[in-house]
Amino acid sequence: MRVVEAFRAAYGASPQTVWHAPGRVNLIGEHTDYNDGFVLPFAVPWGVTAAVTPRTDKTIRLLSLQGHSDPVTIESHDDSTGWTRYVVGVFAMLGDRVAGADIAIDGTIPPGAGLSSSAALEVSVASALNDLHDLGMTPMEIALLSQKAENGFVGVPSGILDQAASALCQEGHALFLDCRSLGSRNIPLDLASHGMSILIIDTQVHHTHAGGEYAKRRAECESAARKLGVPALRDVTDLTAALELLQGDERKRTQHVVTENHRVEALIGLLRAGAVTEIGALLNASHLSLRDEYEVSSPELDVAVEAAVKGGARGARMTGGGFGGSAIALVSDDRLESVQQSVVAAYAERGFQPPRFLPATPAPGAHRVA
Ligand code: GLA
Repeated sequence: MRVVEAFRAAYGASPQTVWHAPGRVNLIGEHTDYNDGFVLPFAVPWGVTAAVTPRTDKTIRLLSLQGHSDPVTIESHDDSTGWTRYVVGVFAMLGDRVAGADIAIDGTIPPGAGLSSSAALEVSVASALNDLHDLGMTPMEIALLSQKAENGFVGVPSGILDQAASALCQEGHALFLDCRSLGSRNIPLDLASHGMSILIIDTQVHHTHAGGEYAKRRAECESAARKLGVPALRDVTDLTAALELLQGDERKRTQHVVTENHRVEALIGLLRAGAVTEIGALLNASHLSLRDEYEVSSPELDVAVEAAVKGGARGARMTGGGFGGSAIALVSDDRLESVQQSVVAAYAERGFQPPRFLPATPAPGAHRVA
């Protein structure tokens, strides 16, 4: 394993443990996690592998096969910058439960694709430390700790979707997560036996205002919930009555969140019934809602979705936070070519840089590899 070789070359001994944590796509349930709602992600075959040996002092030495080939040495948590903050954030949240460590990182998630490379990084390191120090954390506790590192240390106000997917997903399954109770269930997702697959369309575009807009959406949802007198938008039961009490953007955000939660439940119902192709309509509805009510799509995502459907996909939607990143399309095996051609042609026509296509099969969540 190349991460083990890099570890040995840098630190002169083999790592004590090696953990892999994957990235994710979200099949449906977008911008619902921080509204105490439902999500349905699955893990992708790419992720972050962390080789780790604990130290007796507080120093963290860190190298990445994708960047710092010479280890960076971090003596104080405040010294960390850039991607190293996701790792140091995990140490900061674990506090006195851990000392320092020597770490080598290998990441295979296409950068900027919106497939949660940061959550994979946090969860791989947190899982390794949990193992090495016998901390006894459950996968959900690892996910929560990783989210805390991202919220409290890195300063990104994300929900639990990405870290939970990375820590809890199982091969061949999507993860149904209730973001309030944190109860979860693994839902079999065997598209191949229906002659179908999920195609990831990576727009390779990431709009820089995404962070600010994300925080704004969260605030709008919280404000709408306050006006409606409910703890979170998850609790809205009568949408018509709720919309009468709201105006403007808060009204639109509420419309999306409430209907998106229902789409998650409907999609699970269809999967259970074996009606796989029918889930396409829900993917399309989710995209329209994210585009028009939640307003987090982008021209590149919209064109990818429209062109995929035009090329024969059963349904398509943006996945993840939005403002760039990736879309997913549900495609039957005999339409894979024509869907890709349709998207490539539509991108060329608009003068967009070519997208990247990645096949997504539901992969396992975080696990020890050595
Ligand atoms: C980002 C966040 C998640 C979630 C999605 C939208 O990926 O990190 O917590 O809110 O956006 O569903």
